[in-house]
Amino acid sequence: MDPDENQEPQIPKPSRIHISSFLSIFNFSILILFIAISFSIIAKTPSFRNYLPKPTISPYPNLFQNLLNFLRFTPMAKQNEFTEPPYCVLWMAPFLSGGGYSSEAWSYISALNNYIKKQMNPVFKLSIEHHGDQENVEFWEGLPLEMRNLAIQFHQTECRLNSTIVICHSEPGAWYPPLFQTLPCPPTGYGKYKIVIGRTMFETDRVNVEHVRRCNRMDQVWVPTDFHVDTFIQSGFDPMKVRKIVQPVDLEFFDPSKVKPLDLASVGSSLVLGSDNLNSKNRFVFLSIFKWEYRKGWDVLLRSYLKEFSAADNVALYMLTNAYHSDRDFGNKIVEYVKDSDLEEPVNVWAPIYVVGDHIAQVDLPRLYMAANAFVLPSRGEGWGRPIVEAMAMSLPVITTNWSGPTEYLTDENSYPLSFEGMSEVKEGPFKGHLWAEPSVDKLQLLMRHVMSDPDEAKHKGLQARVDMMRRFSPEIVGEDIINLLQLILENLD
Ligand SMILES: *[C@@H]1O[C@H](CO)[C@@H](O)[C@H](O)[C@H]1NC(C)=O
Ligand SMILES: *[C@@H]1O[C@H](CO)[C@@H](O)[C@H](O)[C@H]1NC(C)=O
Repeated sequence: MDPDENQEPQIPKPSRIHISSFLSIFNFSILILFIAISFSIIAKTPSFRNYLPKPTISPYPNLFQNLLNFLRFTPMAKQNEFTEPPYCVLWMAPFLSGGGYSSEAWSYISALNNYIKKQMNPVFKLSIEHHGDQENVEFWEGLPLEMRNLAIQFHQTECRLNSTIVICHSEPGAWYPPLFQTLPCPPTGYGKYKIVIGRTMFETDRVNVEHVRRCNRMDQVWVPTDFHVDTFIQSGFDPMKVRKIVQPVDLEFFDPSKVKPLDLASVGSSLVLGSDNLNSKNRFVFLSIFKWEYRKGWDVLLRSYLKEFSAADNVALYMLTNAYHSDRDFGNKIVEYVKDSDLEEPVNVWAPIYVVGDHIAQVDLPRLYMAANAFVLPSRGEGWGRPIVEAMAMSLPVITTNWSGPTEYLTDENSYPLSFEGMSEVKEGPFKGHLWAEPSVDKLQLLMRHVMSDPDEAKHKGLQARVDMMRRFSPEIVGEDIINLLQLILENLD
């Protein structure tokens, strides 16, 4: 699982794809999808059979069997001339990466699917393609079967270029011509499609020149928050082309009334710092979920937590994190950080910090949230903040930085917005020089202590959080927004 947003894709290792020598499952499944897309766009009668290797060579039979069984045994539905929708929506996103764009894309296509199913004469059909990031087999295998079948079905839809609306749902570096190895979006460049739309976001106070240029080549760009509307326009993006479409959260899946808490001792959590009395009944558990990068403010989290609490406080901090251009030895990184810092161990010993070691399958994620008393993420900047919204859907009180994407949904009534000490500069990487928020260590200390000591208020905010998620970010509501936008576009086409 990749629990976090995934704005910057993992750059695939440059490796040529040869039909006879599959280096890895990734290359192979990308190949299958590439072949499929090339055929579905260029040819009328695709034939995949010649390209299929023996399924027995695969260590991951589920992915293959699903793809192959479908490709082999399910005939393409014959389209009736009269009911053939005049338009096609080709949604290109990192469907198989499991990141933030990926989960967004899945919810959008299920919304579109629900809509199409209800129409007598749908005005468009839907086609999808994986693009913009690497595939993650664990993620694909963790998806419900009906989602996988839906994906394979949409993947088979044929589109004529000149009646297709292409949605490029990824970071602009993946758009045509891509800056790294990925299927370009739109696949054959601009000018050949009815309309081309970008869906993207960013986590700092601006968008770089190259990305703005790429956004301006699109007919429209959909961003998730008012923060992005402002920062994109301020960076030079055409204000006439910007639309806001928020990100939905699956409220049936993330439903606290449906799940029992995960046993935190069972998920390979290792105690990396401090000592803990696991048997204590009323232990207060803070949960944080993020990709291991400086942007996420894990340093701020460690400082605040370790300064405020000791082992005598009956608290625990659980971190579910995954690698981002780094190795996976998070325990050591935490210990090193603390050793090199000016933090002093309290007489009562450090408060316990755990790193969740196991891969948590998507289906178990709600139970992980259930096992916590509060969610905390002192991030410096977020595109949307998917784990924050999931925690809110699970009625957890959340403490998170009151800047960037999350300002779209944080209020004093539904959360503990963390104020920040002004802005700081991004110090490395391609976005060096941009600004983001510098969350306050002191204020985070106060809020963490506060959420523990006022459980009634915390509970109330958690309940309000779910109410607000249902009111604004349910897949139905966001799906309707997308349909309305698409309809508006289609009405103005000819
Ligand atoms: C789209 O292209 C097809 C041929 O590929 C052509 O028959 C059709 O008239 C075109 N439609 C439009 C609206 O240009
Ligand atoms: C959070 O930020 C918004 C502006 O984006 C501001 O109106 C609000 O007062 C802030 N809330 C807190 C608790 O600081």
